[in-house]
Amino acid sequence: MEVVLLPTPEDCGRVVADAVAGSVLAALGRGGSVVLGLATGSSPLLAYRELLRRHREEGLSFDGVQAFLLDEYVGLPAGHPESYREVIRRELTDELGLDPAVVHGPDGAAADPLQAAHDYEDRLLAAGPVAVQVLGIGANGHLGFNEPGSSLASRTRVKTLTEETRIDNARFFGDDVTAVPRHVITQGLGTILGAEHLVLVATGEAKAAAIAAAVEGPLTASCPASVLQLHRHVTLVVDEAAGAQLARADYYRYVLSHKLTDQGW
Ligand code: F6R
Repeated sequence: MEVVLLPTPEDCGRVVADAVAGSVLAALGRGGSVVLGLATGSSPLLAYRELLRRHREEGLSFDGVQAFLLDEYVGLPAGHPESYREVIRRELTDELGLDPAVVHGPDGAAADPLQAAHDYEDRLLAAGPVAVQVLGIGANGHLGFNEPGSSLASRTRVKTLTEETRIDNARFFGDDVTAVPRHVITQGLGTILGAEHLVLVATGEAKAAAIAAAVEGPLTASCPASVLQLHRHVTLVVDEAAGAQLARADYYRYVLSHKLTDQGW
């Protein structure tokens, strides 16, 4: 995997936007419909703002793109401001000009969430493969909402959040942990591995241990993000704070400074 260690979160946002735009444009060039995989949470926001800027100012087009979300809370009513469907609409897809009909997410408000998870996996497989999947990482190493202990081969299903994740996410719910749903529907780790290009972004020291474990630790369900080590095309974009515990940091910087000009992301 390519580890891109950069000085600031803003630099990370630009590189993630480059990687996403590059993969989307390449896939559009091959014809047919292009599937873009989107994460929510705070990590990708600067990249999304950069994509929006390029769309507005440079004419970067997302015509022909369908978006699939990584995960969704179970039990929030449709239209709840913190449902991931709503967040991504607000932060990205409306302004990119994507019709809500081409922005797909697991139906967390379904009467039968187990069935909704199966249905979402089927929809994704029918539309896919995902050309480029944007990812964040939890402080505990979760990928999507695959919490530690998740099967490395898992498919989309209902998962129970750890208390740690609920506490981390309480900031989006007025700091009220009790308002954070206990359950989610998340793409499985095996599902995520089906994307052609994985672009993970992490910033800040709270992510440093998880990044080191994912990149340099053993492949283990105890750090779900270590499953990235199995994928053939991963771009892992971290700022200095999130990369602070990487033992091979100097090598990653060396590789980056000697990247061939036409190598791309
Ligand atoms: C979000 C998701 C999660 C987040 C992770 C980091 O769709 O699947 O894995 O990427 O919890 O969240 P932030 O970016 O808010 O620190």
